[in-house]
Amino acid sequence: MHKLTQKEVFKGLNLENIDFYLLDTVDSTNTFAKEKLLNKDYLVVISEQQTAGRGRQGKEWYSPNAGNIYMTIKFKDKNPAPLSLIIGLLISEAMDSVSGQKINAGLKWPNDLLINKKKICGILIESEMNADEVEFIVGIGINYSLPKKESWWGEIGELADILPREKLMNSILQNIIDYKENGYKNWKDAWEKRCMHIGIELKALSNNQKDTDIGIFKGINEEGKMLLQTERGLKIISSGECSIKGIY
Ligand code: BTN
Repeated sequence: MHKLTQKEVFKGLNLENIDFYLLDTVDSTNTFAKEKLLNKDYLVVISEQQTAGRGRQGKEWYSPNAGNIYMTIKFKDKNPAPLSLIIGLLISEAMDSVSGQKINAGLKWPNDLLINKKKICGILIESEMNADEVEFIVGIGINYSLPKKESWWGEIGELADILPREKLMNSILQNIIDYKENGYKNWKDAWEKRCMHIGIELKALSNNQKDTDIGIFKGINEEGKMLLQTERGLKIISSGECSIKGIY
């Protein structure tokens, strides 16, 4: 397996603004990034494997040393758009620009990416207060190859020729830095265009999975909240996740 190098991952990026760690192994790139001070505008942590990779809602993120992407970027963000949705959008766009093709990885609210109805990328965003400012810890996991997997997990190993992981990481970092510096004007339209379940029936689940609502997904509002047409009217759902019949 081709090991990641600083030259390839950070090509064209201004390293005066970025502290970075390229590791062979770590418990979790998010946990590691949380423990480090943000001395420059960005802190990037990348590892070949994680021994305690973390997913959303306290789940484990399976992280073998198999050529996958485990990357965390920490920064302060004052843009008004919801970071959680924006990051998924920026990754889907990075896949198209690196490959030069319309890969169109579909967005599943709030921030999973799917190809052929399988989850190929997960995003875990955490935040911390530091001297009255919020620091975001954005963890990205993209699977190229999984020795064992659940039925809904996908891999993009077959696309590795057109989507080399170092180029994909580089493009994701470029996109995030560009977003942080310049914002993203039409992010809501762009997100909805890439969403794979507009007009489709789904089940919205609250964070503790105790409350559920079934309805037709109508899109999102300016805060990134889900608009769900239920039998009892239009509901606005701010957090949690969703489940789609036949997908996950
Ligand atoms: C999800 O549950 O969908 C989110 C998965 C996020 C996984 C990534 S891998 C890099 C970073 N470090 C972690 O421990 N988790 C995130």
